[in-house]
Order: sequence, then C-alpha cells, then structure tokens
Amino acid sequence: MDSTARLLIFLAGSLTLFLLKFLHKYWWIPFKIQRALSLQGIKGPPYEFIHGNNKASTRFRYEALSKPMASLTHNIVPRVIPQIHSWINTYGDDDLHNMNPAVIASVETMLEKWKGREGEEIEVFNEFRLLTSEVISRTAFGSNYLEGKKIFDMLTKLAILVSRNYFKTPIPGISKIWKTADEIESEKLANGIHDCVMEMVKRREKKVETGEADGFGNDFLGLLINAYRDSDEKNRFSIEDLVDECKTFYFAGQETTNSLLAWTILVLAIHTKWQEKTRQEVFEVFGDQNPNSEGIAKLKIMNMVVNETLRLYSPVAAVIRQIKKEVRLGKLVLPANLEILIPIIALHHDPQLWGDDVHLFKPERFVEGIASATKYNSAAFIPFSMGPRSCVGMSFATTETKVALSMILQRYAFTLSPTYVHAPFPVITLQPQHGIQVMLHPL
Ligand code: HEM
Repeated sequence: MDSTARLLIFLAGSLTLFLLKFLHKYWWIPFKIQRALSLQGIKGPPYEFIHGNNKASTRFRYEALSKPMASLTHNIVPRVIPQIHSWINTYGDDDLHNMNPAVIASVETMLEKWKGREGEEIEVFNEFRLLTSEVISRTAFGSNYLEGKKIFDMLTKLAILVSRNYFKTPIPGISKIWKTADEIESEKLANGIHDCVMEMVKRREKKVETGEADGFGNDFLGLLINAYRDSDEKNRFSIEDLVDECKTFYFAGQETTNSLLAWTILVLAIHTKWQEKTRQEVFEVFGDQNPNSEGIAKLKIMNMVVNETLRLYSPVAAVIRQIKKEVRLGKLVLPANLEILIPIIALHHDPQLWGDDVHLFKPERFVEGIASATKYNSAAFIPFSMGPRSCVGMSFATTETKVALSMILQRYAFTLSPTYVHAPFPVITLQPQHGIQVMLHPL
C-alpha cells in the first residue's frame, strides 16, 4: 500500500471517528437526556440539532427586548427571561396539571351515581373511599380502581389489625415460637399485598419486553420500576423498597384524603352558612364549568374551610419519631432510642394556642393565612407534619379535596341526616366510625 492510500485510510478513519464523536455529543447525549427526563414526566422545548435551545432563546430575547415595556408594571419576568416564562406556561407541570383530569373524571363517575339518589340520604365516607382510591390508582399507578381494589381492601384490613394491637405489649421473642391469630392474618395480608404489587410490576415489564410500551411509564409506579432496574447498583431499589413505597403511597394517598373530604362535608352540612358562602365562591370562580388549576388557587373561602377542618379533624392524629442519637432540644436532653409522639390533633385543640373558641368551627381564623392564624407559631398547625419527613402529598390532597368539593357544591346543597352518629374513630387515620350520612338537595 503506497503512502497516499495510507494517508487516505488515515483521513477516512479520522473523519469517521470525528463524525462518530460529533454525533455522540450533539445527537446521542441530548437524545438520551431528553428521554431520561421525559420518562420522569419532565417536558420542555425540543432539542435543535447542535443549537439546543439557543436559537429559540435568542428569538425570545430579541422579541422581548426590542421595545420598552408597554406600561409601568412590576411584572418583568416575561421581559427578563422570556423564554423560561413561555416554556413554564407551555410545559410547566405540577401535581395539579397532571392530576386534575383524573380527579374530575373520577368525581364525575361518583356524581353520576348520585343522580338517582336526590332527596335521599347518602353516606359520604364510603363514597369518598371509592373516589380517593380511584384517583390514587389512576394518577400514581396508571390503573383503575378495580385493579387497585384488592390492595386497598388488604391495606384497610391491615390498618384495622394494626390499630387493634397498637397498645398490646408483645412478650419479647414469643412471636418466633407462637403467633396470635392477628399476627398470622397480618402476615398473610402483607404477602398478599406484595404479590399484587409484583403482578402490576410484571405486567409493565412484559409490555416493555414485547415492545408494546417503550418505557415503564412516567407515573409513580413507573419511576419506582426504573429505580428498581437502575443500572447503577448504588442507586438501585430493592424489591422490598419498591413494595414498601407502593404500600405507603396507596395508604397515605387514599385514607387521608378520604378522611379530609368526609369531615369537610360534615362541617359544611352542620354550618350551612359556610356551605352557602363556599358555594357562592365556587360559582363566582368556575360558574357551572369544571374546576381548573388557576381557579382552585383563587378559592380563598374554601381554603379557610379546608384548613379549619384539617385543624379540628386532622386525618393524621399523631406522628411518632424515634431518637437515633442523644440530642439536645432546648433545655432537654433526649436519650437515644426514646420514642416521641407528636400529638398533632392535641396541638390543634390547645386553647393556649388557639384561644377559648378552640373547639368551634371558625374558618375565619384563617382569613389572613396560616401564619397569622397560628400567631407565627409554625408548630401550632401541622396536619401534614413538619420538617424533612413531612407529607409529600400535601398539595395533591388539598387540590383533590377542593376539586371534589367544588363539583359537589355546584350541584347539591346538603344537610346532616338525623341518622348521623358522631363518633370520630382513630384507625391510623381519623375516621367516622358509623359513616357520615347527609341528605342531598339538588340545586
Ligand atoms: C389530607 C391528606 C393528607 C394528610 C393529612 C397527610 C398527612 C401526612 C403526615 C402527618 C405525614 C407524616 C407522617 C409521619 O411522619 O409519620 C405524611 C407523610 C407522607 N404522606 Fe401524607 N397526608 C395526606 C395526603 C397524602 C397524599 C395524597 C399522598 C400521596 C399522594 C401522601 C403521601 C405521603 C408520603 C409518601 C409520606 C411519607 C413522607 C416521608 O416519610 O418522607 N400523603 N402525610
């Protein structure tokens, strides 16, 4: 081979290498990043070959800065970062945007069933059990209520067993030799839940294997499966982690909101003036249209009503923390292994914090917001706990509650049925022991 041929081969090789590196940097890496983000539900403007989003950003800036602002306003974000402002509006996402259609569809299904029952008594706690189960199934697990039903039923039974045995002291080591009927039942239920979750996981994996889907999904379950199959061992979730997270989400996402919605209906059925005020606000904001996220943020009266319900009937009555290492808390020294119970509901009913009218339903306490209602004592109102392990579903739960309430108030007035028996009952969450019966009156 002469030197010219060698040179040509060298040049061709170099060119190919250069091309491969070039495509890797400007096509493959951006493609992979975009796909990884989109699998997690994060959307954005499409990548333009080589330029990324630079050309589009320049166009936005040129347009925004080409003239002074039309009026003397402090709304300067659309001018200062016009591309980001526009993309947030186009692709911006939160709980809210994703969940609203699912919540609306589920509330519509519930209200459709109520149609034939006007003028009759209706037990809302159970109605909301189906609703909240369907919402969490659809939004977090991409399935309908029936698919999650087995899991919910088993979790409900497990919660009853846990509550029933909460204050029983087990003899150390005895459960290795002999188990109570409740312990045997609990284990059966835990195994049953494990199997149901695994079935859902396997179904998704199969869809990817057969090419029916190109990913495990970008809902909560999809994210968990991705973490379980992470190629990096350090980040990988174990199957126990995955099942545990699903159990927490099913339970935390459903029982709590079920409780909040039901107690809100109770207080509004008793305090019909507040019911009317809240309804008026709903009509002012939405007319007879379905709720939307912008409108939900404007519902001030409803927000006060929901906060006052969360105060009086906190769905989670207490949380427990264990001291891992001796710690100083103000003047106290708390030793390791100590368990502390934070009685959320007792704080919410403390007259020293809230005044002598503490047990009265007075949403007007919250008219200036939570900080003012609690006189800037951030630990006085903690329905979602506080600190790093506080509730991750707070805005999900309050939005779901407000959407459902709005849609009910648009159609019905309701009063408390004479058959209602007041018996708040703690079964991990605060539940009405005999349900909440109201009479429905179509508007
Ligand atoms: C009115 C409704 C809700 C209330 C009152 C509530 C309350 C709470 C409270 C008090 C905690 C702390 C528990 C503890 O530390 O032991 C918590 C944690 C949690 N909540 Fe909620 N929750 C509600 C709705 C939801 C929803 C809808 C979801 C999911 C979609 C959710 C998911 C979670 C999760 C995953 C945790 C554990 C967070 C962690 O440990 O880091 N919650 N919630």
